[in-house]
Amino acid sequence: MTEAWLKPSRNIWGRKSKPVRKVSLRVGRLFADDDRDGVANVFDCRPKNPRHQDFGKWKGRSAKPGQGIRGPEEITAARRFGGANIKRLKQIGSGRDRVVYQLDKNKVLKIAKTPGGLTQNIPEQDLGGYLGHLEHFESGKDYVVMEKAEPRGKATKKFIRGLKKAQYDTSAGTFRSGISEKARDYLEKKGYGDLMDYEINKDILHKTSWGEKEGEPVLTDAGALLRSQDLKNFRIKHLRESAAKGDQAARHDLQEWREIQAERRRFGRKGEKIETPREEKVEVADEPRSEKEERVE
Ligand SMILES: Nc1ncnc2c1ncn2[C@@H]1O[C@H](COP(=O)(O)OP(=O)(O)OP(=O)(O)O)[C@@H](O)[C@H]1O
Ligand SMILES: [Mg+2]
Repeated sequence: MTEAWLKPSRNIWGRKSKPVRKVSLRVGRLFADDDRDGVANVFDCRPKNPRHQDFGKWKGRSAKPGQGIRGPEEITAARRFGGANIKRLKQIGSGRDRVVYQLDKNKVLKIAKTPGGLTQNIPEQDLGGYLGHLEHFESGKDYVVMEKAEPRGKATKKFIRGLKKAQYDTSAGTFRSGISEKARDYLEKKGYGDLMDYEINKDILHKTSWGEKEGEPVLTDAGALLRSQDLKNFRIKHLRESAAKGDQAARHDLQEWREIQAERRRFGRKGEKIETPREEKVEVADEPRSEKEERVE
């Protein structure tokens, strides 16, 4: 043991010794989530760095009531995956209300662009995996992770052609308004009868709402399963007008949207590469160390 008075406060280069980064994780903290990213410390490669992120299944433990994050539904995609990481993902689609990224080989990340996107994300979960529909993996405050559909092929093109034909009114020479009985019958006949439990909107007729799974058409935009009035009600302009008239629900929705935007800004740079200063990595074996350094090891 070196006497305290013998320990130099400067290293061989004459610089002040820097304390070694304290990385010890007490056993009790192994399953805690110090950077609050939904990945438990033990699985997290940078457990104390709130700006670094790993992709993977939510492994965060349920927090005690009133303490910490209980699940991904309480956080935004920026916080969960890191805003900077999301920017690096491949964007594979975009609609009026959501932007869609490829998360990995068979998963997509759908993030709301508008309050309407939050509403459209709800039925995605509802349908997930049910009767040959796309699998649902996770829902967050402003996002869903869904199974990735294959691109539309011949089968879907034929299916959409039939659906459009059923919707077309030959005597009037126009498409019928709403969803026609014929179109409903067609969907039923083709095996999508379970979708008829919803108050479907016209998005169901658009080819961009469909993809393929195992060679069969599959609905990729579950937002088509909402009343069209519900979609309109969540337009930001509509929410502002309603809030100004004193509608409490609209005020609440606007407030929620503002909070989401604030959290996105806060975690916008999460996932950026952080350079470790060179000096921190330097270790000099024979040099007596400062008391602080001794303690860390
Ligand atoms: N599960 C998925 N697998 C593969 N691609 C998808 C998936 N979901 C969405 N996409 C792609 O992203 C695009 C936009 O997604 P989606 O239609 O769900 O967004 P939206 O905002 O609801 O659109 P809309 O304006 O029609 O309501 C789709 O046209 C499709 O190309
Ligand atoms: Mg939609």
